[in-house]
Amino acid sequence: MPQSTTSEPGVRPAIFRFRCIACGDLSDIASQNFRCSRCGDLLEITYPFSSKRSASPVAIEPANLKSSWKQRRLSTLPVDLSGVWRFRDLLPTLENEQHAITLREGNTPLYEMPQCARIAGVPRLYGKHQGMNPTGSFKDTGMTVAASFARQAGFRWVACASTGNTSASMSAYAARGAMRSLVLVPDGKISWSKLSQALDFGAVTCQLRTDFDGCLRLLQELVLRAPVYQLNSINPFRLEGQKTLAFELLEQLDWQPPDHIIVPGGNLGNSSAIGKALLEMHDLGLISRLPKLSVIQAEGANALVRTLREASGKRLVSVQAETRATAIRIGNPASWKKAAHVLEATGGACEQVSEVEIAQAKAEIGAEGIGCEPASAVTLAGLKKLVKQGFVKAEENVVLILTGNLLKDPDFTMEFHSGDLFPGPSRDREHATLKALRHPPLVLDATLDAVIRTLEQAEKSGDSKT
Ligand code: F0G
Repeated sequence: MPQSTTSEPGVRPAIFRFRCIACGDLSDIASQNFRCSRCGDLLEITYPFSSKRSASPVAIEPANLKSSWKQRRLSTLPVDLSGVWRFRDLLPTLENEQHAITLREGNTPLYEMPQCARIAGVPRLYGKHQGMNPTGSFKDTGMTVAASFARQAGFRWVACASTGNTSASMSAYAARGAMRSLVLVPDGKISWSKLSQALDFGAVTCQLRTDFDGCLRLLQELVLRAPVYQLNSINPFRLEGQKTLAFELLEQLDWQPPDHIIVPGGNLGNSSAIGKALLEMHDLGLISRLPKLSVIQAEGANALVRTLREASGKRLVSVQAETRATAIRIGNPASWKKAAHVLEATGGACEQVSEVEIAQAKAEIGAEGIGCEPASAVTLAGLKKLVKQGFVKAEENVVLILTGNLLKDPDFTMEFHSGDLFPGPSRDREHATLKALRHPPLVLDATLDAVIRTLEQAEKSGDSKT
């Protein structure tokens, strides 16, 4: 078992083991495909402190943890400047923590969103903007941990299947850690912004003639044949890093839990990670009550919604995924069992939203001065539904997890504002709602008159906020 180099008083090293989520088998090492050697299900990382029900609970003093995490903000050590490794007491411990591959990930802002709060009908709404990570998405928080363990294990190659953000993040961390990276993405189905990141960071980038689910299937076979380390969220180290979003969020809220946290669902690693963090924080006494964690999917990629509604969460109902929110265009989510578990444990809901609802919510978030990618906007669209259904009450506080940066998918934004996102006459009524939110670029003669006329028209139409 790895030894810690942590020497601060009162804080225990995070020794860990792998536990199968289905049969509970415990092991000190994981196979290349991160599946249980007994039953083939997914693994999670478990610690002596993971559960109150643990056979040998390790006492961790919540006050010590909180003050130690705060103290580290004053340090200039790379691991303390990282918004992930700052929380390393609740993460798997590297043999030498100074060897962490870090781009100073995490440390993301929590924005108040008063306009969107009014639109949704809740008193207080926050956006935790994971798109402010070094490569522009939440993936960096998991990648710093998993890539560091890949390098510690001596791997020269890392690989992932991706809808774009994982590949951008993985190739950056591989480059920082002097490893080679192999990217498998669905041909023509990821944004150029994300693809260009992988190219710049030196990945061997393969656009496969299949969808994300096909890429992931192939990767799972590849890792059993070739010495490559897989960095998809099946890799439980990824989820441990992504957990820190919740630690950082609660610290930003002065440890007062919100009533609801709402997260987009694709391959379902992120919701699983956030849920695991909430349960661990609750078990450790870092928070006194659990927020409800809800997952929102696009209607066209709604495998978890259908799994819970049609199969009571007992078996996966996969779908042929289609959505313009390409980051979550996934029909066969790998971590569905983990996500179903944390939804049940926190009492959260699972909802789906239409393409028009996603586009509208993205523009409403944009009108607040906060850019995000379409997949992130499902959170606001979902919140509106959950308020209407009475699941989120009118007096409750909500945090939306904005998973990716606006600049990740500029085509979507351009098409929306130009009125080209939903071609065809069939949805005229829905289009009217969207029209009010559009701000198409204007082409004018280069004269003062033309610009002043435009300004006056905008003022008249109520477009100006001055
Ligand atoms: N939001 C964004 C911006 C994403 O990139 C993803 C997933 C999700 C939400 C969904 O998170 O899969 O953990 O449920 N993107 C992956 C990728 C699949 O390859 O970049 P999830």
